[in-house]
Amino acid sequence: MRARFNPKAIEQMQEFDRYIKDKDTIQAIIEKNKDKKIYLEIGMGKGEFITKLSELDKDNLYIGVELSPPILAIAVKKLKKYEEENNTRLDNLYFMSFDAIELSSMFNENQIERIYLNFSDPWPKKKHAKRRLTNAKFLDEYKKVLKENGQIEFKTDNRGLFEYSIISMQNYGLKFIEIYLDLHKSTDVFNVETEYEKKFSPFGPIYKIIVEY
Ligand SMILES: C[S@@+](CC[C@H](N)C(=O)[O-])C[C@H]1O[C@@H](n2cnc3c(N)ncnc32)[C@H](O)[C@@H]1O
Repeated sequence: MRARFNPKAIEQMQEFDRYIKDKDTIQAIIEKNKDKKIYLEIGMGKGEFITKLSELDKDNLYIGVELSPPILAIAVKKLKKYEEENNTRLDNLYFMSFDAIELSSMFNENQIERIYLNFSDPWPKKKHAKRRLTNAKFLDEYKKVLKENGQIEFKTDNRGLFEYSIISMQNYGLKFIEIYLDLHKSTDVFNVETEYEKKFSPFGPIYKIIVEY
């Protein structure tokens, strides 16, 4: 996913009250909400998935992480529009922009309940395997911040990335809780669709894995 750099949109994102720039600010928010569970989406894109989840579960905190500031600026714009149109305010939803490989520089040990990875970039070339969000280096980083028995929920339409992720998670020693080879055919599963899922599910199956540390 690419987005044009728009200085005005970036400025508006930086002024948004639920755009969080640094560790101290996010830790202060977490401290204020001690009794709540914290769910992260990494690579949240334009934020449709995490916005919906946070609205369905206002008792807990949702934090979307996106590497690309221009994409996050679009997510902020969309959230503002959504809140205006629906006369609502999602106080339990925060956005951050940083590389997930630095997750443990933002969050403490044992803080996160579950991490969602939705339609992560497949990086199909072998030489780029380390950039895949299910690579062992990222699994290490998730482990540092997840609670004991914390989970990762991973969805993709990319068969290559799905196969790679199974092997990477298996080699890491994660416990497989659920695997779906065609998620949309499992009618009894709770599922919130992402932007990519809506776009690509007409062309083939959606794969899903839930693993536990
Ligand atoms: C293919 S998009 C999917 C967006 C959204 N999750 C969806 O399903 O519609 C993948 C997103 O992950 C972000 N991303 C890639 N590597 C990342 C990293 N290391 N840390 C945080 N975000 C990352 C990209 O910038 C991109 O917006």
